[in-house]
Amino acid sequence: MMLTQRLFLAGRSRLWFAGLTMSILTAPVPRLVQAQNAEPNKATLVIHSDQPGAMISRQIYGQFAEHLGRLIYEGIWVGEDSPIPNKGGLRNDVVAALKELRIPVLRWPGGCFADEYHWRDGIGPRDQRPRRPNASWGGIDTNAFGTHEFMDLCEMLGAEAYINGNLGSGSPQEMMEWLEYMTSDSDSTLARLRRQNGRDKPWKVPYFAVGNESWGCGGEMRPEYYADEYRRYAIFIKDYSGNHIQKLAVGSHDDYYGWTEVLMAQAAKYMHGLSLHYYTLPTSNWARKGSATEFGEKEWHATLVRTLRLDEFIEKHSAIMDKYDPQKRVGLMVDEWGTWYDPEPGKNMGALYQQNTLRDAVVAGINLNIFNQHADRVRMANIAQMVNVLQAMVLTDKEKMVLTPTYYVFKMYKVHQGATLIPLDLSAPEYKVDQASVPSVNASASRDIDGKLHLSIVNLDPNRSAEIITKVTGATVRTITGEVLTASVVNAMNTFDNPNAIKPAPFSSYKIQDSQVILSIPPKSVVVLELH
Ligand code: AHR
Repeated sequence: MMLTQRLFLAGRSRLWFAGLTMSILTAPVPRLVQAQNAEPNKATLVIHSDQPGAMISRQIYGQFAEHLGRLIYEGIWVGEDSPIPNKGGLRNDVVAALKELRIPVLRWPGGCFADEYHWRDGIGPRDQRPRRPNASWGGIDTNAFGTHEFMDLCEMLGAEAYINGNLGSGSPQEMMEWLEYMTSDSDSTLARLRRQNGRDKPWKVPYFAVGNESWGCGGEMRPEYYADEYRRYAIFIKDYSGNHIQKLAVGSHDDYYGWTEVLMAQAAKYMHGLSLHYYTLPTSNWARKGSATEFGEKEWHATLVRTLRLDEFIEKHSAIMDKYDPQKRVGLMVDEWGTWYDPEPGKNMGALYQQNTLRDAVVAGINLNIFNQHADRVRMANIAQMVNVLQAMVLTDKEKMVLTPTYYVFKMYKVHQGATLIPLDLSAPEYKVDQASVPSVNASASRDIDGKLHLSIVNLDPNRSAEIITKVTGATVRTITGEVLTASVVNAMNTFDNPNAIKPAPFSSYKIQDSQVILSIPPKSVVVLELH
């Protein structure tokens, strides 16, 4: 049967859980899928290059860094006295790798941690900063990494700052003063304090959120209560000295549509963006999520079924937003997304460290295609999380660093940042396991400001290549360049001993016949092409 990109399956809502509870480890190691010499899936694709759509916000390619596990401490911050090469305490290797991704925006300091973070703990001489328990994720936070260190990181990466404020245990005054400290160029006491702490010029803070997951770890609030709190706090988020801030409200997760309805009805006019969180679990079961590395075709397929649900969630949350905001002024900010597996046996449960395989690359490609396709409403997305936590770009072990398959997808897809969405008609055979099916191919296209046409394609089928007969309306394709990310097994990964096991290779499997392009996309792969 032929399927389009959209898939609607019944599912379960996410339940809030305690980050530090025990997870049940996965059962016996299943057989891994090997590439087969099966007949290709035959698909057709029309790229409507003469019908440009919305602008793909650069911020869709954003990242998220929480004080959690070994993300900030070890992953980014090693301190000025570390033998690991660093600039001002920020490790050189990680910063250099991340710079390659052209990260547009970085969310910090949480997550759940945001609602317990008090910004004054993280300024001033480091040896005098208080040491506090990290109540969300365990351990002691030395506060060595605070506002100045975060802003330095953003400047090194060329990323915009997205600060997540503390609603859960903070106050409107604390939020207001943090913004004054960061952005005021005046002679106020807080602006003077910033100067005294080493930063003369104010920073720009383009995004500020009022709390995180206020329906869960951020306070277990009802939407009506949060809407009132949001309105109160939002008034005190001020623009100082020419800073122009976008105010973001806590949005829903998964299919919790009631939250979106109430927030849009009661607070839409006070916000620039409303968040959405969705994590991809192979099982949908928070107590037994599945292994990051030991899986077979059943788990591969189940993961893709679940990740594709994001398309449905965005559609439905957007439809509610359209009722209250038909002009699409308020952005949907998917500021937490990605895969979430059981912790590796023997690893700290609260640290959320997981390996990253070709399956994660395929999940990343699909999600980024979905965001691109919804560029009219989705204005930001922040994968969880940037280093050493969940679906990371980079993993570190002391002085060593590896780039994950997900890193390479972000690198390949950066051509879509700020480009114009080009609509597609894609028809591909289904990829079926047991009773569930997904389209075997997923794609998006865009035209950048230099007029270059890019196409990103994911082949979800681990056994069959996809032969895609492609037409481009309004343009003639003469040649194609690009890259492909794939491997011989579904759980291919880069390790500290073998850091280059999976990385992109040049793509050349295409033919041009008359006005058609025939693309041959390998099984279980992510491909990004430039059509000249
Ligand atoms: O990304 C890990 C956690 O997941 C975040 O702290 C929280 O917002 C979400 O539940």
